[in-house]
Amino acid sequence: MKVAVFSAKRYDRALLTEANLHHGHALTFQEAMLGPETVVLAAGYPAVSVFVNDRVDAGVLAALARGGTRLVATRSTGFNQIDLEAAREQGIRVVRVTDYSPYSVAEFAVGLLLTLNRRIHRAYERTRGGNFELDGLMGFDLHGRTVGVIGTGKIGKVFAGIMRGFGCTVLGHDVYPDPGFEALGGRYVPVEQLMRESDVVSLHCPLTPETRHIINADSLSLVKPGLILVNTSRGGLVDTNAAIGALKNGLLGGLAIDVYEQEADLFFRDLSSDIITDDVIQRLVSFPNVLLTGHQAFFTREAIGTICATTLDSISAFERGEPLVNEIRAPD
Ligand code: NAI
Repeated sequence: MKVAVFSAKRYDRALLTEANLHHGHALTFQEAMLGPETVVLAAGYPAVSVFVNDRVDAGVLAALARGGTRLVATRSTGFNQIDLEAAREQGIRVVRVTDYSPYSVAEFAVGLLLTLNRRIHRAYERTRGGNFELDGLMGFDLHGRTVGVIGTGKIGKVFAGIMRGFGCTVLGHDVYPDPGFEALGGRYVPVEQLMRESDVVSLHCPLTPETRHIINADSLSLVKPGLILVNTSRGGLVDTNAAIGALKNGLLGGLAIDVYEQEADLFFRDLSSDIITDDVIQRLVSFPNVLLTGHQAFFTREAIGTICATTLDSISAFERGEPLVNEIRAPD
């Protein structure tokens, strides 16, 4: 089947090409993101593959349908970038990668937490410049601290298990509580209590209308001063301006983010020679206690290998008219 692969980076090309040896699809790689200006490149392709920041809204889906596209395969778990209602109206089916190494993201979240708490990012810079001073690098023991996990699905549970291993008390909040989380020693509490009692909060729920700005000025007003907030899920979960306010008044003692609300205009590109006009992200990176990475939590060999294999499996199943196990649909 002819597949237009958008947002295709070097590693996508290499690993999809390798995985495609088992499938034989005709893959056309586009460096560009899918959006209103680039959707023309999908004309004549029955399948299109996208990534987290491509724009798959009603207008783009209508254009895709006109061009003959019948399947959109996102190479991600999250699918908040796709208007599922509009896809259904256009008769376009949508698949995602439901399952890939949750360890990739959970371990990265732990890495961010350790780095920020123990100021490893600052120490790295200092020692390279010959500065072996410890002033300003003091962190706290995680052992015995309380860690709140919002969203106790696949990634949240792995993260919770690691934190239990560190000797932390783990609190959870989820709309669908999972006995597996409690079996790890986690305890479900209302989200307000989680915000009040935690020393660290890590976000692992999807971005939905209900979770947008789940971290906002109100929830941040509840926290113990010095809270470390980790977000490896989706930028829209955090009201960034409220987080900046809480960093300024010290309620937030640290913010570690792999995702950012306006990341679509920035991430996955080298803008080091450009003028960045987003003042919010520039303010964020000016704080010594903010650690920002560019949506790389998923980026392990294991995760990418599964993402490529699952995406091509779904496209092959679609071509053969078989059930699509990773299909996502708008609620009826
Ligand atoms: P999952 O579907 O296994 O778990 C998500 C959990 O969030 C579920 O238990 C669900 O019930 C819960 N949830 C949904 N609405 C909620 C609400 N209103 N309040 C509290 N909990 C709620 O998903 P998984 O695989 O654990 O992934 C979680 C998120 O991580 C994804 O949605 C995605 O946004 C993000 N992600 C980020 C990556 C990165 O590279 N930074 C890579 C992969 C995923």
